[in-house]
Amino acid sequence: MDLEFWHERWQANQVGFHQGETNRHLLRHWPQLGLAKDSRILVPLCGKSRDMLWLLEQGHTVVGIEVSQLAIEAFFAENNLTPEIHEEHYGRRYVVDQLELLCADFFSLGQQDIGVVSAFFDRAALIALTPAQRPRYAVHLKQLIDHGASGLLITLEYNQLEMNGPPFSVPREEICHLFEPGFTVEQLFQFDALAEYRRFREKGLTALTERVWCLRCRQLPAKPS
Ligand SMILES: C[S@@+](CC[C@H](N)C(=O)[O-])C[C@H]1O[C@@H](n2cnc3c(N)ncnc32)[C@H](O)[C@@H]1O
Repeated sequence: MDLEFWHERWQANQVGFHQGETNRHLLRHWPQLGLAKDSRILVPLCGKSRDMLWLLEQGHTVVGIEVSQLAIEAFFAENNLTPEIHEEHYGRRYVVDQLELLCADFFSLGQQDIGVVSAFFDRAALIALTPAQRPRYAVHLKQLIDHGASGLLITLEYNQLEMNGPPFSVPREEICHLFEPGFTVEQLFQFDALAEYRRFREKGLTALTERVWCLRCRQLPAKPS
């Protein structure tokens, strides 16, 4: 999807992807990453996700990336937070305590913009992208995160002929294809999610699998001396 699509979604308040509660896969599986409390966490394509608040509550520092200024401002307004705003070369950077939200195109940012992160949380980021955009996302994510970083990724798989994305179906094999060999890829959980997503049933889906993945950056082999 192009950025205009997302700007229009936010302007029209068509944000059915937004969750009023903390994502339950995050609650259940995040401890498996075994992170230090003060770890810096990247939340790509963050929208106004409340998951960022939960990550902050764990003691983490959070850096979210979101192209829509409306989404970012809604996040702060809805959570009664007043950020400091800094003008940067890529756009605005909003800061409150241990949280930074960068209002920018994910693909335009480099590691110098987001700092050194040790983990990421991707809920509805990869699956918001078209098949053509996803390889670039995987490569860019790898470039942004610190060597040795890990992350949780949540995906959906369904028959793409039954419904248009986003969210797009990302088959299990594609996850391995996209992220290996830069990451080790481990599926932590999968379940039949159709009963939970009324809006997708109404669009015609007859089967839907939700999966939770743990990705860990592979260490580069040591250079021979
Ligand atoms: C499906 S929503 C998911 C939001 C959030 N992760 C959540 O769980 O609610 C995808 C978000 O990515 C943003 N987005 C799409 N492409 C982007 C890009 N290239 N750079 C930054 N944000 C982007 C959209 O504005 C939208 O808020």
